[in-house]
Amino acid sequence: MSNNHIPALMEGSLSFGALESLRIKQLEEQSSALRNSVICAFNQLLDLKDLNTGVHSTRLAEWGMRVGLELGLEEVELQNLEVAALLHDIGKVGVPDAILRKPERLDPEEYALMKRHSEYGWAVLRMLPGFERAALDILHHHESFDGKGYPAGLKDTEIPVVSRIVCVIDSFDAMVSSRPYRKGLPYEEAVRRLTEASGTQFDPVVVRTFLSFAQAEMSTVFAAAGTSVSSAL
Ligand SMILES: [Fe+2]
Repeated sequence: MSNNHIPALMEGSLSFGALESLRIKQLEEQSSALRNSVICAFNQLLDLKDLNTGVHSTRLAEWGMRVGLELGLEEVELQNLEVAALLHDIGKVGVPDAILRKPERLDPEEYALMKRHSEYGWAVLRMLPGFERAALDILHHHESFDGKGYPAGLKDTEIPVVSRIVCVIDSFDAMVSSRPYRKGLPYEEAVRRLTEASGTQFDPVVVRTFLSFAQAEMSTVFAAAGTSVSSAL
């Protein structure tokens, strides 16, 4: 039921308890619809700024959700994970295009500005009721497992688990996605780099869980995206 009011006829025939649970269900549906609309709207914004990295991103977000399930995250954490996986780079909207699109290596000042995107994303999403936790998860999606990341230098399990998962899928996405000025890495090389940085940059449990099922599906996904392993080289 999508309207705001329970029909009077139905209201009269229901017990107080049933009426309450119906109202709660309606509120939950409204809140879920609002949440999905916000995700879609911000996703459109990422598209407008050409900040979605393409066909792999959605699949990677799905894989991120599967990691969350395998790690036993609760329903509410999985919902935050979905938001964080899809919108973690929303703060890049606040980074100048000259930096976002620069094909050469960023100088230290430009890199410092680029790194602000996780704070920008947090600052925007925390304003939305129901997105406060996902905003925090986004704030920490560039923390490193060994404490050398940003913005807070958190390490190990100090980093929220959702942020640790997003960090792995975001990095993997960045490695395999092509940019105008460079081709994406073949997935074997991306897997090798992910494994190499497991325990330093990445949470080893997340990497292991991600690769345990994603690796078997990667060749299919790459082929479906029109990117064979050899042409990605
Ligand atoms: Fe990011």
